[in-house]
Amino acid sequence: MATRSPWPRPLSLPCCCLLLLALGGPGFFQSHAVEVDVKDLSNNTCIYAKWMMSFLIKYETNSSEYKNATLKPSVNVTHDGSTCGNSTHAPLLAIQFGAGHSWSINFTKTNETYQGNIISFTYNTSDAVFKDAKTKGPITIVVKDPMHPVKLNTVYKCHHLDSIEVANVSLFFWDVILQAFVQNGTVSKNDSTCEADRSTVAPTTVANLTTASITTASITTASSPLPTTTSKPVEKPLIGNYSLKDGDKICLLATMGLQLNVSQEKPVLININPKTTNVTGSCGNTSATLRLNDSNRRFIDFTFAVKNTSANTQRFYLKEVNITLISSINGSEPLNAGNNNLSIWDTFLGSSYMCQKEQTVLVTEDLQIHTFDLRIQPFKVQDNKYSKAQECSLDDDTILIPIIVGAALAGLIVIIVIAYIIGRRKTYAGYQTL
Ligand SMILES: *[C@@H]1O[C@H](CO)[C@@H](O)[C@H](O)[C@H]1NC(C)=O
Ligand SMILES: *[C@@H]1O[C@H](CO)[C@@H](O)[C@H](O)[C@H]1NC(C)=O
Ligand SMILES: *[C@@H]1O[C@H](CO)[C@@H](O)[C@H](O)[C@H]1NC(C)=O
Ligand SMILES: *[C@@H]1O[C@H](CO)[C@@H](O)[C@H](O)[C@H]1NC(C)=O
Ligand SMILES: *[C@@H]1O[C@H](CO)[C@@H](O)[C@H](O)[C@H]1NC(C)=O
Ligand SMILES: *[C@@H]1O[C@H](CO)[C@@H](O)[C@H](O)[C@H]1NC(C)=O
Ligand SMILES: *[C@@H]1O[C@H](CO)[C@@H](O)[C@H](O)[C@H]1NC(C)=O
Ligand SMILES: *[C@@H]1O[C@H](CO)[C@@H](O)[C@H](O)[C@H]1NC(C)=O
Ligand SMILES: *[C@@H]1O[C@H](CO)[C@@H](O)[C@H](O)[C@H]1NC(C)=O
Ligand SMILES: *[C@@H]1O[C@H](CO)[C@@H](O)[C@H](O)[C@H]1NC(C)=O
Ligand SMILES: *[C@@H]1O[C@H](CO)[C@@H](O)[C@H](O)[C@H]1NC(C)=O
Ligand SMILES: *[C@@H]1O[C@H](CO)[C@@H](O)[C@H](O)[C@H]1NC(C)=O
Repeated sequence: MATRSPWPRPLSLPCCCLLLLALGGPGFFQSHAVEVDVKDLSNNTCIYAKWMMSFLIKYETNSSEYKNATLKPSVNVTHDGSTCGNSTHAPLLAIQFGAGHSWSINFTKTNETYQGNIISFTYNTSDAVFKDAKTKGPITIVVKDPMHPVKLNTVYKCHHLDSIEVANVSLFFWDVILQAFVQNGTVSKNDSTCEADRSTVAPTTVANLTTASITTASITTASSPLPTTTSKPVEKPLIGNYSLKDGDKICLLATMGLQLNVSQEKPVLININPKTTNVTGSCGNTSATLRLNDSNRRFIDFTFAVKNTSANTQRFYLKEVNITLISSINGSEPLNAGNNNLSIWDTFLGSSYMCQKEQTVLVTEDLQIHTFDLRIQPFKVQDNKYSKAQECSLDDDTILIPIIVGAALAGLIVIIVIAYIIGRRKTYAGYQTL
């Protein structure tokens, strides 16, 4: 995140009693971020927040079907009712937008920490977005904020997408910067970064890989800027080299071109550009996660696991994939999909898995990942390079094609022989009846 200086100018008035009422500090917007500076009667900031959010709402239509609608606070967001709180009322951040939609959160604190308490969201199904809704009018949901306590006098920051699901509503928020219980009207210079943005290993970019095939692949692949979301990239995605480090040693290696196949209203192929993709994640002895975060706010998590086989050997495999697309395709709703029941890319622990042919990972019916020139080693990386590769069977088409042709020929011969025998029998039977 850019660290320009969104902070309000420090005010030196003592913030003795947090008195009600939010004055001044208009909410204003850069792209779609909502920014609110809640001030007390002496114009001292008590809550500062800037964040992105959107709502995915399932509603019943007048033909008794269910549809999804998306709401995003964008222009003309107001923050009436936001207050610094007092001895009996908690500080409250409240916003209103669009045709009678509103969202709020109040905060609590202990002597050391603060956290969000109750989130309340009201949407108005009389809005044109819900034009065919069966019931019209405001609907309110209330949910406990799952945010963990944050150290007092620090700014909570979280780029990562978070979502809350309750009733028919999914709330998404990301790029959050927040401080409640601001002291002395001055937003703190100290940050508390959320767990998801931190990584147990330092994010690194491209590791230096030596495999000839991979080097060729990355050179020969047509380079293209990120696809515009409307046009369909047909070319192969660029091959990315991703790695995670544990200390100064590489603990996970992955090489692949990634293409997402998303079917929302219509199928769209999205190439992931490795040049603008950040890598985080974690290594472990039996579980490892590679998290890719591309500049278009697409998050792809690959989780690998280790299993024992009956032959008393250990193998690793891809166990889980989670994908989050925020504003994936021209204004469509954020998409969050996962499959935690995979058992692919399976090979011996201590080796790497390689598959140059295009492969498809089925995340959901509507979301697949195509991989190209895949090579991965999530465990037991030695000397910062891949171990011996086990190739996927798909690559063996030199063997596969003769087998298929052979089997087809054999089948044809059997059919001809059967046909011949039946033909002869018919003739024979004909003579008998005469
Ligand atoms: C607080 O700021 C608003 C507008 O910025 C101003 O109208 C008001 O007089 C200020 N109040 C105090 C107590 O300084
Ligand atoms: C609405 O969104 C939910 C959650 O993303 C999804 O499971 C469901 O299939 C969507 N329904 C429609 C009609 O698109
Ligand atoms: C935002 O507010 C202004 C002034 O109140 C109004 O002219 C404009 O139409 C509003 N825009 C939307 C999208 O509601
Ligand atoms: C605290 O604030 C609420 C509204 O924000 C107000 O109704 C109440 O009177 C206030 N209480 C005190 C003791 O100031
Ligand atoms: C926070 O808000 C909820 C609902 O708006 C309310 O029930 C609760 O009492 C509030 N908490 C505090 C400490 O004011
Ligand atoms: C809901 O939206 C309708 C249509 O825009 C509007 O007339 C009505 O006042 C809104 N309801 C609330 C509670 O804001
Ligand atoms: C905060 O309160 C807890 C118990 O409620 C206490 O153990 C701790 O020492 C307190 N910390 C400070 C800084 O007062
Ligand atoms: C459902 O609502 C839409 C939009 O208001 C309307 O055009 C349509 O006729 C309605 N259908 C039924 C079955 O009431
Ligand atoms: C706020 O002001 C008080 C008194 O001036 C001071 O003791 C305290 O350290 C200040 N807190 C912060 C976070 O600056
Ligand atoms: C990366 O590999 C190239 C040649 O393949 C080599 O020239 C370069 O020194 C390597 N860089 C590092 C950091 O190992
Ligand atoms: C990747 O990380 C760098 C440094 O932390 C940051 O400047 C850049 O914006 C990030 N890119 C993406 C796509 O998140
Ligand atoms: C994938 O998503 C599920 C449900 O949202 C969550 O429980 C799981 O921890 C996620 N896995 C990863 C690797 O992020």
